Amino acid sequence: MELRRSSTPPLPSTLRGRPFEGLRSCTSSTKPKLPKVGKNQAHRKTDLSGVIDFHSVLESFKQCGTTPAGIFKYECRSFNRPVFCFEERPGFYFIPGALTDDEQVHWIRESLISFPQPPNRTNHTEAYGPIFGLFDAVQNNKVLVEAKSTSSEVDRILGYDKTNLNSKRFSFSEYCMITNNDESYKSVAASVLLRKLRWSTLGLQFDWSKRNYAVSLPHKRIPDDLCLVAKKMAVPAMPNGEEFQPEAAIVNYFGPSDMLGGHLDDMEKDWSKPIVSISLGCKAIFLLGGKSREDMPIAMFLRSGDIVLMAGEARECFHGVPRIFSDSEHADNVDLLSQFSNEEDLCFREYIKTSRININIRQVN
Ligand code: OGA
Ligand code: MN
Repeated sequence: MELRRSSTPPLPSTLRGRPFEGLRSCTSSTKPKLPKVGKNQAHRKTDLSGVIDFHSVLESFKQCGTTPAGIFKYECRSFNRPVFCFEERPGFYFIPGALTDDEQVHWIRESLISFPQPPNRTNHTEAYGPIFGLFDAVQNNKVLVEAKSTSSEVDRILGYDKTNLNSKRFSFSEYCMITNNDESYKSVAASVLLRKLRWSTLGLQFDWSKRNYAVSLPHKRIPDDLCLVAKKMAVPAMPNGEEFQPEAAIVNYFGPSDMLGGHLDDMEKDWSKPIVSISLGCKAIFLLGGKSREDMPIAMFLRSGDIVLMAGEARECFHGVPRIFSDSEHADNVDLLSQFSNEEDLCFREYIKTSRININIRQVN
């Protein structure tokens, strides 16, 4: 079930000066009421001139030491890279180009290979139960089919009760095996599952239906290397001397026409602690609204390697991602794609060419 995201509708034709009321909230079940416009038409009409580009902001800051009106460079002695803030949105921090190309490649690989692995849940868990080795199955053209027997090892890892007859069991098979021998099996190609992957959850598992952290669900801790990045990058937004404690992360996977409607992330106890939000893959537009849905959002580009922090008052600000740039002209991912030029990286390259991944890391308690 996709609770937080809708495919299309098209973007508003101007990005600034339009409140969030047209974008779907993650708590609302009603469809957004935006005018129906063909996708291409909407994209052509979009005026991007008001969208803030922090890479240009950084360049002109380096050259002339100035920033555009309403934006200032945040000085933080214990953080050695440029950070920008909005005068009107205290608690919001933008770190342009925070990750190197190598780091971006690493986190894209992790997001596709490791993060969707059980016991981490994904949007496919409800329909298929735990799915192991999705990306490997894509690379090997496999198909997911209902499994006959259950593995006690799998049950142990996932903490499943064998008496629970509803726990579903699917596993990957060679494509030819299915078509030749057992056409009656329900099956779905791994490549289709990857294309329809919308989210995975790390650490404490988030329950979208109840909109809270399901502490009783089996889970692994967030990987140490991701914790390290989050702790390091959270510094500008942390109260002096305190260290960020990553406990949960949501990984969002955006296809070309996906968007994330205006919402608040309000299920964590302490809003003084930041959400550390990493962008990977295609360029996107991020809208940062105010505390009311009626407030005009500020529009900015998010590129692969950028990191955004939302803490304090900014935690009360509606925000969303109305647009992914998946066309080669605007995706701004040429350098990134060149990192996946080896033959064996074809699946990564094909995926990230038209997709965006967002890893947002949270301290829950
Ligand atoms: C979220 C979120 C922003 C992004 O998942 O809550 O706000 O950049 N993501 O994708
Ligand atoms: Mn959010």
